[in-house]
Amino acid sequence: MPGKIPSEFIQELLARVDIVDVINSRVPLTKSGREYKACCPFHNERTPSFYVSPQKQFYHCFGCGESGTAVSFLIKYGNLQFREAIEDLASAVGMEVPVSQQGRPVSGDFERLLELMSKVQAVYKNELHRSENPVPRDYLKGRGITRESSLKFGIGYSPDEWDFLLNKFGKNDFDRTLLDKAGLIVKNDKGGYYDRFRGRIMFPIEDRRGRVIAFGGRVIGSGEPKYLNSPETTLFKKSNELFGLSAALTPVRKAGKVLIVEGYTDVVGLAQGGVEYAVATLGTATTPYHARELFRAAKELVFCFDGDNAGRNAAWRAMESVLPMMYDGKLVSFVFLPQGQDPDSMIKEEGKDAFEDRIQKGKPIADFIFAELESRTDMNRHEGKANLIEDFKPIYSSMPDSSIRELMVSDLIEKTGLSESFIHSRLSHHSTHRGPQRSVPKTTRTGSLDLASKALAVLVQNPSFGWSRTGLRELEILKDPNVRLLVEVIGFLKEHPNINTAALVENFRESEHFDTLQKFAELEHNVALVSLEGEFEGMIEKLYQRVADEKRRNLTQKSDMTPDDLKRLQESLEIRHLSGSKH
Ligand code: UTP
Ligand code: MN
Repeated sequence: MPGKIPSEFIQELLARVDIVDVINSRVPLTKSGREYKACCPFHNERTPSFYVSPQKQFYHCFGCGESGTAVSFLIKYGNLQFREAIEDLASAVGMEVPVSQQGRPVSGDFERLLELMSKVQAVYKNELHRSENPVPRDYLKGRGITRESSLKFGIGYSPDEWDFLLNKFGKNDFDRTLLDKAGLIVKNDKGGYYDRFRGRIMFPIEDRRGRVIAFGGRVIGSGEPKYLNSPETTLFKKSNELFGLSAALTPVRKAGKVLIVEGYTDVVGLAQGGVEYAVATLGTATTPYHARELFRAAKELVFCFDGDNAGRNAAWRAMESVLPMMYDGKLVSFVFLPQGQDPDSMIKEEGKDAFEDRIQKGKPIADFIFAELESRTDMNRHEGKANLIEDFKPIYSSMPDSSIRELMVSDLIEKTGLSESFIHSRLSHHSTHRGPQRSVPKTTRTGSLDLASKALAVLVQNPSFGWSRTGLRELEILKDPNVRLLVEVIGFLKEHPNINTAALVENFRESEHFDTLQKFAELEHNVALVSLEGEFEGMIEKLYQRVADEKRRNLTQKSDMTPDDLKRLQESLEIRHLSGSKH
């Protein structure tokens, strides 16, 4: 009896096979939009209702309800055992099913990578301060970055050599593979390796807990690229991380707000100038994931951008990302700097007080939204006002039911001169432009599902949204089996980033949840008004709100309150995010 096939192997396999090829070679498929279709091989039919999704790597028949991954397809279609199906798929893509290594878990990479990153950072730091290397130190000095700041942010220097890290940490194949997985070395054409970062100022990128997970390396002087960042690895997903977050958490708590800027040097310069509650995105837009992380740290977010078009566009994207989380009690504003300035230069020029004054005077999110929408239309004409209502619709739909949303509706009434009832009927009317019409009626929709199921469906279909490292365990207080499953799936995805729907579902084949997950994989959800990921983060946020309610209820039900209980009650009343972070 052959042993269990390691789940890592199955994931790798499902990342390489394409379900479209697998099915097409047995049941010829034709393209239909983003999917493929055929007459269902599992029941008799004359018009195709069997669909294959390359994105989800899943098939589904709307006629008989059969669905599953490439593995399920082979099991069912070829009447194979699970292992035989895996072997078939493996041989098709030239992989070999590993012989069982009884019970030995292959994992542990995560910890090993963290340890390596920490050692590498120490070495880079050491290089910066070695007397033989005056150039990087002079560069930092020239930019006004003090020794104190570089120590505080753990800034280092990667010597201008092709094999600096290789010599130090890549003595054997195993170690070189680890360096490669950490994104610290690059393979050349001949199969050898060389150091990725050479002759650069190294900014360590830390996770919320202060562990180094990546680097941003700045060229000294001019050169391309200006910043070279670590590639995405098991530890690092660019769109989830914020530079400076771990160092900023305490100052953020004190200030009650967090400032979001664009550059590494802005964060360093601001902290040096006395504004320590700033973080930076890593050359990406602000994502909904960022938004939720930021709201966990403070209820007020201030975004700071350049005043040019790029800055306004970035602000708009940030606005879209925070919208689904705009519950009452949260504040978001936007600061636009004068042409040619960035936060680093600005605070150096005008000092802390003047800079903080700017932050105070940021444009509140509602004003920003209307200013942008009005600039796109001619408010002196009836058509322009009609456009304003249309353009406001997706914004309205993305927001949770809140006072701020209603206040924006009041603004809209005032701006258009239309009646409240008319505006409300317009806003609750569903948008007409919601993607192409489907030829096949999808019978199963998430519309009627509860929150946790909906979140699960979105997550199973978009596993990349689940890459989160922060304590979701707290959600289990809700005692809802689907919430528990959601937490389990997110926990799994955290250790297995970059997997697709099929690989995710297959991993649960032996589990009692397999059928549930399989069902969620094929549901059609009709969320995504502004951004699907935003909707997802909004759902998670809503679950946290419920946790806070639940805690409050538990505490108020206790008749004999101790001072400790009282303190906890008070804390839980200060909105959920404070209870969510553990500092
Ligand atoms: P900036 O060019 O504004 O960065 O890009 P900066 O920090 O102000 O740079 P200097 O050192 O003062 O000139 C903003 C951010 O965009 C990302 C980095 O995260 C940077 O901090 N970026 C920029 C890159 O990833 N690669 C690049 O080549 C440039
Ligand atoms: Mn700069």
